[in-house]
Amino acid sequence: MIKKDYPLNENTLEEEKEIISLRPKSLSEYIGQDRIVETLKIAIEAALKRKEPLEHILFNGPPGLGKTTLAHIIANEMGTRIITSSGPALEKGGDLLGLLTHMERGDIFFIDEIHRIPKVVEEFLYPAMEDFAVDFIFDKGVHARTHRYRLEQFTLIGATTRAGLLSSPLRERFGITRDLDFYNEKDLAKIIKRSAKIINITIDEGGAYEIAKRARGTPRVANRLLKRVRDYAQVKADGVITKEVAIDALTLEGIDDFGLGDIDRRLLETIIINYKGGPVGIEALSATLQLESDVLIEVIEPYLLKTGFIIRTSQGRKATEKAYKHLHMNIKQKDKTPLF
Ligand code: ADE
Repeated sequence: MIKKDYPLNENTLEEEKEIISLRPKSLSEYIGQDRIVETLKIAIEAALKRKEPLEHILFNGPPGLGKTTLAHIIANEMGTRIITSSGPALEKGGDLLGLLTHMERGDIFFIDEIHRIPKVVEEFLYPAMEDFAVDFIFDKGVHARTHRYRLEQFTLIGATTRAGLLSSPLRERFGITRDLDFYNEKDLAKIIKRSAKIINITIDEGGAYEIAKRARGTPRVANRLLKRVRDYAQVKADGVITKEVAIDALTLEGIDDFGLGDIDRRLLETIIINYKGGPVGIEALSATLQLESDVLIEVIEPYLLKTGFIIRTSQGRKATEKAYKHLHMNIKQKDKTPLF
């Protein structure tokens, strides 16, 4: 399994726990993704009124935008349990059946990275989602018999960074499908101010906006940067996060004013110098950068595409003029000697 926001996230376990504690527990505390939140409020209120479990829900989007957080909030608002697993953890049909057969009515079953479920396991999900039943198969060949086992009515919440990789039978079984998009600076600044209050650090408007600007549109990154800047403020300044403190701290972290880190810049430089600006295929990039192509596609690329540093063509990725400008390179520099 790839680490969630590897390699941008080098948190220790303790830091990870503190970041998790910053997650909102209810929809009213949740900042941003307004239309998704509104849809969920209505669906939850209607289900509670009818005393019925919620429909199955699929969240799609880059890491760190709140898919897991929303699943926990939904369970909290519905007053139900949440049982969590992930695609790679469900290796065999038995792993899934064990969880499904212990579900109680209304339970939320959260599957992270649902696109990584093995095909054989996925097939057990179809009747489970549609008919709340699983079919056990005994014997093989002509003697094969099936026994249908009834399940309690549960709600599956799937999270994926690659909805395109989901088979259509699986995708079609979700009643609500939503794409989470990157957050704007205003919402990120609000999230940062809320988190600052929880972790007890004073931050002014300029400080919150400076961190927001460099947080790649991602709350998880924003909270991680906030903690780095808090350390810096407490050691190098008077414990207050201002714009200047945030700039100094994040510059030291190698994070530029677009939120790009070393890996992003290395990717852009590789396209420009090694591949003359592109187009370059993802596998070639992955080999040159020595990073898994899944990490490039799911973690690093989405923000570079969103902010227009690269574009994707049928022949591969190309660096844009914005990338050349940002790296202070001109088009001729693409003829320089490759970096590695
Ligand atoms: N912390 C992380 N994500 C958040 C969000 N969307 N709203 C409030 N706090 C958060």
